[in-house]
Amino acid sequence: MKNKTALITGASSGIGAAIARRFAEGGANVALIYAGNTEGAESVKADCEAAGVKAEIYQCDVADHDKVKETVAAVKKEFGLFDILVNNAGITKDNLIPMMKEEEFDAVIATNLKGTYNLIRHCIPVFMRNKRGKIVNISSVVGMMGNPGQANYAASKAGVIGLTKSVAREMAVKNITCNAIAPGFIRTKMTSELDEEGAMAAGIPMKRTGTPEEVAETAYFLASEMSDYITGEVIRVDGGLGI
Ligand code: NAI
Repeated sequence: MKNKTALITGASSGIGAAIARRFAEGGANVALIYAGNTEGAESVKADCEAAGVKAEIYQCDVADHDKVKETVAAVKKEFGLFDILVNNAGITKDNLIPMMKEEEFDAVIATNLKGTYNLIRHCIPVFMRNKRGKIVNISSVVGMMGNPGQANYAASKAGVIGLTKSVAREMAVKNITCNAIAPGFIRTKMTSELDEEGAMAAGIPMKRTGTPEEVAETAYFLASEMSDYITGEVIRVDGGLGI
């Protein structure tokens, strides 16, 4: 990934931080988008710089269309035409459907689904000028299977899959690929209350949770030339949970 630049959202923690570190290790410069955790973003930036690449941090709420436009323009100014977008930012606001509040539904759709659209919408013109682009969207196995208590989250992640496939079809002739990853249970802040026993109870055939690094490896594959003929694909990284 030498001489490539990747814009990664939700890069201050968890899977996003692991993706940023993996891409930097592979030689890519990284623009790290984060919501509010400046300390986390600074620490990921330092790790990436230690790998010998250029790294910058940008505070931006992915749900805010205008702010995303401004941030993408700032990244382009700093790094020039960039090549890779990883839509990783995401939230959960779990509740059973009879209790689910409108705000809980709207907030999850705004960050997970509209946020993904916002970034794609503003990065595509850069990719078209660059005559190449790789988009990797982090969906979830829950978007393929559904999950009690996560109707809002599952809907947002299923939406990301439809968005991925449509963008892939539209942009294939422009040398822009768009793929998704559907992680299962990955050990991060988002799943901190889930222990290994819980993971087994959830019926994971491999009988363990996954690591952010395992998701990062797949993101690296989908953002690299190794996957040039793959578009509109959804790869589960879930220990077999979604089989
Ligand atoms: P995390 O909570 O550590 O990371 C989520 C990141 O998104 C955080 O850095 C957060 O600041 C950022 N973020 C949230 N709202 C934002 C906003 N409005 N604007 C900008 N950034 C925002 O959790 P994790 O697990 O690393 O999640 C990363 C992605 O992976 C999410 O999209 C999540 O839905 C997805 N995922 C995670 C799974 C897991 O088991 N941990 C399973 C399947 C999918």
